[in-house]
Amino acid sequence: MAKINVGNVSEIPEGKMTHVVVGEKDILVANVQGKYYATNNTCPHQGAELHEGELNGGELTCPWHGSKWDVTTGNLNWFPQKLEPLGSYKITVENDSVYVEV
Ligand code: FES
Repeated sequence: MAKINVGNVSEIPEGKMTHVVVGEKDILVANVQGKYYATNNTCPHQGAELHEGELNGGELTCPWHGSKWDVTTGNLNWFPQKLEPLGSYKITVENDSVYVEV
């Protein structure tokens, strides 16, 4: 398990998202009401980069076809067809730096 530095807390303010590429993984990190959450950044529908979508509270909307995800769990909230969950990663904050465990 590797601990990857995603950036400083000031770079990911409340309501914002970023992403980090680790090997073959592309991981989205979101700040929801001061807490950080990490999921896979690739939409399982057709591969959009989810960090380019919109974040509303804990709900992330895919920029391509509007699937809606709970970014705090990686689970699908809404889409006309079934999609696999995004999965989630553990986040830690140390000395104002945000880390994701991959
Ligand atoms: S690529 Fe995300 S909903 Fe189609």
